[in-house]
Amino acid sequence: MKEFIQLLPKAELHLHIEGSLEPELMFSLAKKNKIEIPYKNIEDVRTAYNFTNLQSFLDIYYAGANVLITKQDFYDLTWDYILRCVEDNVIHTEIFFDPQTHTHRGIAFETVITGIKEALNDAHKKFGITSNIIMCFLRHLSQEDALETFEMALDYKDDIIGIGLDSSEIGNPPSKFEEVFKKAKEEGFKLVAHAGEEADVSYIYEALDLLDIHRIDHGVQSINSEELMERLKEEQIPLTVCPNSNIELKVFQTYKEHNIKNMLDYGLNVTVNSDDPAYFKGYMNKNFLNLCENLPLTKEDIIKLVKNSFRSSFISDELKEKYLKKVDEYI
Ligand code: ADE
Ligand code: ZN
Repeated sequence: MKEFIQLLPKAELHLHIEGSLEPELMFSLAKKNKIEIPYKNIEDVRTAYNFTNLQSFLDIYYAGANVLITKQDFYDLTWDYILRCVEDNVIHTEIFFDPQTHTHRGIAFETVITGIKEALNDAHKKFGITSNIIMCFLRHLSQEDALETFEMALDYKDDIIGIGLDSSEIGNPPSKFEEVFKKAKEEGFKLVAHAGEEADVSYIYEALDLLDIHRIDHGVQSINSEELMERLKEEQIPLTVCPNSNIELKVFQTYKEHNIKNMLDYGLNVTVNSDDPAYFKGYMNKNFLNLCENLPLTKEDIIKLVKNSFRSSFISDELKEKYLKKVDEYI
């Protein structure tokens, strides 16, 4: 199974680029940019990465992002993630970035997006990896702030395929961002939102009905509503599930309790993703392996999960066909 997963061509649809900041790069950037970080050494960092819920992670994740200053820093961050894609045979990736995390520290929007974009262009040239960029609004901030950020994004419309919503979920429902998502829809962006990671199914209903999103990020709380499960199945709405993240943030206490196999068996369009791999102990293949070691997933299940990702991605129909054929040839 390990070898089967390793060599299987895969797509990733839920990856926060700031969440791929490995401690080694964090230390070297902190030193170069003369930014203080609250860790003495790598060991210290690993000890700090002991989360109790989403917020306990976010506090540390935003502090880590402070070391990113120059365009080259964002390039290096993205390039390191691309090397992990090569290692894990991820051939297409759709990455999130959180501009407000940086613009609020005085880093220009342009610095962030061009650093990421240049690395992704080089990834295509060097490895043939294709990618899309999705800009997320931080939901703990106001809709006004999101609207200002959205204006900045309009200058980079060709580089940003979609708009997403992340950060502290409970208390910041999708309805808070109805206006800015309406504008994003009018401008033709694809829409996604984190919903039902920790918060109840009303957040998923709002994301679907008020924001009109194309994919739900996480969505694992859907299992608590038969009615919602039926709808997700009927409409085949993609759920970008992140197993390691759910375990590290105690959404589920163990992999054996994770509901991805139940959702798959029910007929939902679920996919596997790494979310914030530098913080959650592993990249794409590690997520698959942890599932396989703890749940009765068959090879057919793995193939279904991987094909769901390609089908649910924001690439052209031709490219989807090409990638699905690649998967079939491998099988
Ligand atoms: N930002 C980075 N990772 C996140 C997650 N898992 N949920 C919400 N916001 C995030
Ligand atoms: Zn996420």
